[in-house]
Amino acid sequence: MTPGVISLPVEFANALALAGGRLGLLGRQIRWYPRVGSTNDVATTLAEQGADEGAVVVADQQTAGRGRLGRTWVSPPGAGIYVSVVLRPSPREAALLTIAAGVAVADGVRSATGLEVQLKWPNDAHVNGRKLAGILAEGAPSYVVLGVGINVLPAAYPPEVARLATSIEAELGRSVDRGLLLAECLAALAARYGQVTDGDARGVVAAWRERAASTLGRRVEWEAGGRSRIGLADDIDEDGALLVRSGSELVRITSGEVRWV
Ligand code: BTN
Repeated sequence: MTPGVISLPVEFANALALAGGRLGLLGRQIRWYPRVGSTNDVATTLAEQGADEGAVVVADQQTAGRGRLGRTWVSPPGAGIYVSVVLRPSPREAALLTIAAGVAVADGVRSATGLEVQLKWPNDAHVNGRKLAGILAEGAPSYVVLGVGINVLPAAYPPEVARLATSIEAELGRSVDRGLLLAECLAALAARYGQVTDGDARGVVAAWRERAASTLGRRVEWEAGGRSRIGLADDIDEDGALLVRSGSELVRITSGEVRWV
C-alpha cells in the first residue's frame, strides 16, 4: 500500500459502495489519507506519474490546504470534505470544468443533506452570503486536478475565516453523514463531467444559472489594466466566462477575482 494511505473508514466505504455505478470513472481508484499537506498535491503527483483519469484522493485533514489566488484553505481533522480528482479533459472541456464542478457540489450537498447552496462565479458555494465550499482547479495540459473543500462542521476556524464562512451543520443545526456527502458529490461530479465531455455545455451553463440566481444581477468589482472597475453580473457564457455589464460595455471575465459589492 502507498505510504500514508489506509483503507477507507467504514462511513465512507459504505456510502461509496452504495453509490456504486453512479460514481462512474470516479469510483475506480479512491485513496484515503488521515492527514496530508494538500490533496491537490497528492493528486498532482499521481497525475504526473500517469494515473488514470478519475483517480480520487480524500483526506481527513490537510496541513497545507490551498484555496484560489494563493489563499489558505483551513482543513481541521474530521471537519470537512477535502477531496481532489484527476481528470484529463480536452482544452475546450477544461474551460467549463470549474463551472460544472460548482454545479456538482451544489447538487451533491442538496442530495446528501437537503441544504440549498447558491453559486458565485466561478464556483464558490455560499449559504446566506457565507462561503460553504470552494473549488481549486490546477493542472498542466495533459490533466486537471480538481480539488473540492466543503465545510461540514463549525470547526475552530481562525476569526478571519469564521466571519466569512459557514458549514453544513451550522446551517442545518444537525449532524450530517460525511460518507454520504462525499459519495453524492462524487456521483454528481461524475454526472456533470459526463455532460461536459458529451458536449452539453448549454445544459451545464443552464444548471449553473439556476443555482446562481441570487448572485446574477448583483454589483461586482474587479481589477483590469491596473484599475478597479464596477459593473452588474449579467450571465456566464458557454466557456464559463462571467459577462458583466459596465456602462454600455459587456465585459467578459475569464479569470481572477471578482468581489460582490
Ligand atoms: C477556494 O475557494 O479558494 C478553493 C478551495 C479549495 C480547497 C480544496 S480542499 C481539497 C483540495 N486541496 C487543497 O489544497 N485545496 C483543495
